[in-house]
Amino acid sequence: MTTPVRVAVTGAAGQIGYALLFRIASGQMFGPDTPVHLQLLEITPALPALEGVAMELDDCAFPLLSGIDLTDAAETAFAGSNVVCLVGAKPRGPGMERADLLKDNGRIFTGQGAAIASAAADDVKVAVVGNPANTNALIAAANADGVPAERFTAMVRLDENRAKSQLAAKAGVPVAQVTNLAVWGNHSPTMVPDVDNARIDGRPATEVITDRAWIEGEFLSTVQQRGKAIIDARGASSAASAANALVDHVASWCGGQSTADGDWVSMAVPSDGSYGIPEGIISGFPVATDGVGGYRIVEGLELSAFTRSKVEATVAELQQERAAVEDML
Ligand code: NAD
Ligand code: LMR
Repeated sequence: MTTPVRVAVTGAAGQIGYALLFRIASGQMFGPDTPVHLQLLEITPALPALEGVAMELDDCAFPLLSGIDLTDAAETAFAGSNVVCLVGAKPRGPGMERADLLKDNGRIFTGQGAAIASAAADDVKVAVVGNPANTNALIAAANADGVPAERFTAMVRLDENRAKSQLAAKAGVPVAQVTNLAVWGNHSPTMVPDVDNARIDGRPATEVITDRAWIEGEFLSTVQQRGKAIIDARGASSAASAANALVDHVASWCGGQSTADGDWVSMAVPSDGSYGIPEGIISGFPVATDGVGGYRIVEGLELSAFTRSKVEATVAELQQERAAVEDML
């Protein structure tokens, strides 16, 4: 049998964890031929609940699940891990912004970044979900001495999926026909879903949807505020759709699902200065992936004046977040 991929998941007894682990164990993240070994981290009081989740995983008899470890020690959870999903963090409640979580959650990522550096496998890849995800990823990367910064990514795939779904509904087409949808910047209300470069059934999305007022108004605010709308409706933040987006994010990056020729996905990755987005922040970009751990920022896209001004605002917000956590970097 192929060597299992060791996948560490933090906050594994939480809402997203409960929607995520069964997808990983069933083969949806790494494909139907790749066994997985789950290394699950929780805070000590949540270990009994985590044991319950592990019992349910056992009860699924997943053929690809080669083992499950449960722990409250980060270094144990990350030992030899090839992929680390940093989910564990406080979610926001009604009336809060994700950035309000920065001080509370940021500290988690200093220790976990260091633990990844000391314990994870040499090829480790990290996907951060816990909010504010971009800046938490920056904190983890800054504390992970010796691990290349480009291995630290944050999730904006949920925003991409939300945007694709809204565009498909407006155009009256199946969602699979919406491609090339980049989300620039921060996973926050300033994020920028880029319709100008998106395609619908292979055509420029702006030729199919000509209602510019909708694109710059209702569409943008619906995507930017979707997290809040879910919290208002559910009384809790998105969980199944977040877990689904994380499966997509990792599958595209290193689970065998490379981007199709000419297409891209959205990942928040350390900026290399592309598109004038300064180095030193982790920003959403259009990214092409090879499915086996490599990705590159897609270069050469034209941004409209509208999109450019919105990207400047989201980048400024990321720089402010960075300044607020300078002591953790
Ligand atoms: P939750 O409260 O249901 O679960 C979080 C879990 O993390 C809890 O079980 C908690 O015990 C655990 N935890 C807390 N500190 C920890 C630590 N230091 N180490 C390990 N585990 C720890 O929350 P949730 O709904 O699963 O959301 C988790 C995070 O994901 C939140 O910050 C939320 O805002 C964020 N989120 C991000 C996105 C995104 O698109 N990036 C989408 C949805 C939610
Ligand atoms: C989301 O986008 O659903 C999550 O980031 C949760 C939130 O706080 O909005």
